[in-house]
Amino acid sequence: MRTMKLGTSSLEVPVVAVGCMRINSLNNTEAERFVQSALEEGANFFDHADIYGGGACEEIFADAVHMNDDIREKIILQSKCGIRQGMFDFSKEHILESVDGILKRLKTDYLDVLLLHRPDTLVEPEEVAEAFDILETSGKVRHFGVSNQNPFQMELLKKSVKQPLVANQLQLSITNSTMITSGFNVNMENDAAINRDGGVLDYCRLQDITIQPWSPFQYGFFEGVFLGNEKFPELNQTIDTIAEKYEVSNTTIAIAWLLRHPARMQPVIGTMNIDRLKDCCKASDIYLTRQEWYEIYRAAGNVLP
Ligand SMILES: NC(=O)c1ccc[n+]([C@@H]2O[C@H](COP(=O)([O-])OP(=O)(O)OC[C@H]3O[C@@H](n4cnc5c(N)ncnc54)[C@H](OP(=O)(O)O)[C@@H]3O)[C@@H](O)[C@H]2O)c1
Repeated sequence: MRTMKLGTSSLEVPVVAVGCMRINSLNNTEAERFVQSALEEGANFFDHADIYGGGACEEIFADAVHMNDDIREKIILQSKCGIRQGMFDFSKEHILESVDGILKRLKTDYLDVLLLHRPDTLVEPEEVAEAFDILETSGKVRHFGVSNQNPFQMELLKKSVKQPLVANQLQLSITNSTMITSGFNVNMENDAAINRDGGVLDYCRLQDITIQPWSPFQYGFFEGVFLGNEKFPELNQTIDTIAEKYEVSNTTIAIAWLLRHPARMQPVIGTMNIDRLKDCCKASDIYLTRQEWYEIYRAAGNVLP
């Protein structure tokens, strides 16, 4: 598995991250085999959140990996906090409490990366800064980032937060690529020009913040998988043809499409199927041509101006 630095940090991470949101769909033996397979592929970066499975996903993972000091050094753990029942909460108290809960469930004493999960409009950047300082000084969290935030929200945090924001986890797939599309349609009257994220793609590139695309196989908001889906005939035909050329599966090509972007993204895959996991990891070795990248983009129904 190819690796890269996460954001401006010195943390070397695999280019494909393993999302653990769905690990509670596996029984203990399956979860153990899944995690072991990921490690064999070099996919040792695991994405969590305190809310996945109401906390159960972190516990299932810790058991599956047989967490101990030796294992802990071989894996990279990221988790998120800030989403609560009916609200978002970036208060100092909630961030600190959440991290303690995460560490307990993951059976570890530190997180490699903590992300703030969804923007909280009641955020007080000074409070976040205090929380991050305490977490960093105590050794509980080594790196910090955000998820689903636009550039101004990140700038607001940076007013007080002194640690670099190393990652921004954002919804992005071939069929969910508004951050790319708005960049092609700057200043035009069509809907494709609507800027939904404040230019987050270019901002993250400028600031060296790693974009972590979540739900790389989904269309809509968890409406389903676009691969093999009759709603996307042209896209599937194009992907299948390119997959045949490289002698890989359509799954590999969908991830290779994200990895081809020079923003140096780290897709967070959600599969719990070991064969699909391996196919996702293979994307690390595929470098699509410019023409192939654009063919796939257009086959998803996007029209270039
Ligand atoms: N920051 C955020 O707000 C946010 C939001 C959502 C998710 N996330 C993170 O992103 C990760 C990935 O999200 P996701 O799980 O929605 O991503 P995903 O990889 O797009 O979707 C995974 C789901 O799609 C299925 N799937 C994938 N390819 C398939 C195919 N070819 N045919 C049939 N089914 C297929 C998988 O089933 P199988 O298991 O059978 O392969 C699994 O149920 C999560 O684990 C989480 O860590 C973050």
